[in-house]
Amino acid sequence: MTATSAASAAYIVAALLFILSLAGLSKHETAKTGNAYGMAGMVIALAATIGLAVDHGLSGTGAVLMAVAVVIGAAIGLWRAAKVEMTGMPELIAILHSFVGLAAVLVGWNGYLSVEADLENQTEVSADLLGIHSGEVAIGVFIGAVTFTGSIVAFLKLSARIKSNPLVLPGKNWLNLGALAAFAALTVVFVIEPNLPVLAVLTVLALALGWHLVASIGGGDMPVVVSMLNSYSGWAAAASGFLLGNDLLIITGALVGSSGAYLSYIMCKAMNRSFISVIAGGFGNEGSAASSDVDYGEHTEISAEETAELLRDAKSVVITPGYGMAVAQAQGAVADLTRKLTERGVEVRFGIHPVAGRLPGHMNVLLAEAKVPYDVVLEMDEINDDLAATSVVLVIGANDTVNPAAADDPTSPIAGMPVLRVWEAERVVVFKRSMNTGYAGVQNPLFFRDNSRMLFGDARERVEDILRAL
Ligand code: TAP
Repeated sequence: MTATSAASAAYIVAALLFILSLAGLSKHETAKTGNAYGMAGMVIALAATIGLAVDHGLSGTGAVLMAVAVVIGAAIGLWRAAKVEMTGMPELIAILHSFVGLAAVLVGWNGYLSVEADLENQTEVSADLLGIHSGEVAIGVFIGAVTFTGSIVAFLKLSARIKSNPLVLPGKNWLNLGALAAFAALTVVFVIEPNLPVLAVLTVLALALGWHLVASIGGGDMPVVVSMLNSYSGWAAAASGFLLGNDLLIITGALVGSSGAYLSYIMCKAMNRSFISVIAGGFGNEGSAASSDVDYGEHTEISAEETAELLRDAKSVVITPGYGMAVAQAQGAVADLTRKLTERGVEVRFGIHPVAGRLPGHMNVLLAEAKVPYDVVLEMDEINDDLAATSVVLVIGANDTVNPAAADDPTSPIAGMPVLRVWEAERVVVFKRSMNTGYAGVQNPLFFRDNSRMLFGDARERVEDILRAL
């Protein structure tokens, strides 16, 4: 067997392992096995690629450079993965997508420099093949550059280094459409006559478009943006695969691209957002003002002891956790509270919003880690109709996901997003540290309702106070 056919066989095995990995990741019971398949696939893919490079006469310097790159990359990856907090995962994912985008831009530029810019040494390239190659360069660079800057803006927004409000430039939809039309025109020019200035302009245009597309999207829609950038990074990798003639990169890129696109679609449906509007940089959403200036009246505070009293007399309790539970690392105390109340005969269940926290399934993972039984953890749609008959709802560090403005106020930036209707319960106790807004930057009228009480402080400390009082 030649090295090339051995590598092709290894690539097929790796591709199958990646498919098994995705299948495993679709359920939390099999997620760990899914990860193991993915890692095995990646090891096989790396080994096959190195074997292929050696067979193609990899020089000593080349081998050293490759080894140094693999060691540095692996060390940084291990260090970041070990250090990252669960709440920091989306921003880490966003910055990793930017690397895929940058790699695609570099592969595209390298493709141009080693083929189109070096035609004297290209004895076997026909004019037709050259045209296809130039088209691949232009498309690969474009998708890569949009992914690169888009992911950087997503990283800056998610890590609160810049504001999460949508940027509203005058005629923003025309700017995006104009950029797409200019890209199409530049690609045609580049295919007819490949040259450096056209490729440079195309790259700058795509960098600006990526920046603008993500900057135009408001905080509440960021989860969809992250999964959309995941999809773009897949297509960028597939484009690099075509340029490098690497089948595995094409297959992996297509898997990431299509699964990311499907996840974005599911999230858009869950949040009642238009998929097209989000991928087109907030098309049709001309940036409604945040309603934080409205006077909603006075809020009423409650102490941990009074909350314990309420819980003691309650028949049924629903806990709706959010990002603040993750920040406070309150899941262990919340699990203890669940156990204690259940022992006293109170029915305790959880209501999980699809985008609570900062990544899909964030709350489910934290509750599973704290050993809360799966059968009391319900999805938003499963619990919403039961909330009106619930004695007490404990909103632990959630804000946007329980905001009645999404249902009642058509001018709200989160209007139309389905929310947990916690205000329908007899009593609501909201755990947070201040009257600050949530991720979308919108004030929450729930805090001022007659049946709502605010329990201020760190969520974990307050839950522990309640446990003591009980
Ligand atoms: P948020 O709306 O982000 O609100 C979290 C609340 O937790 C804040 O109001 C904060 O108030 C409180 N908090 C923070 N630290 C706390 C602590 N130590 N103890 C007690 N409270 C604390 O949360 P949510 O309801 O989970 O909504 C998620 C939001 O994030 C949505 O807008 C969603 O679109 C967005 N998002 C979601 C994802 C995914 S995929 N899930 C990804 C990116 C963005 P104080 O500061 O007053 O304490």
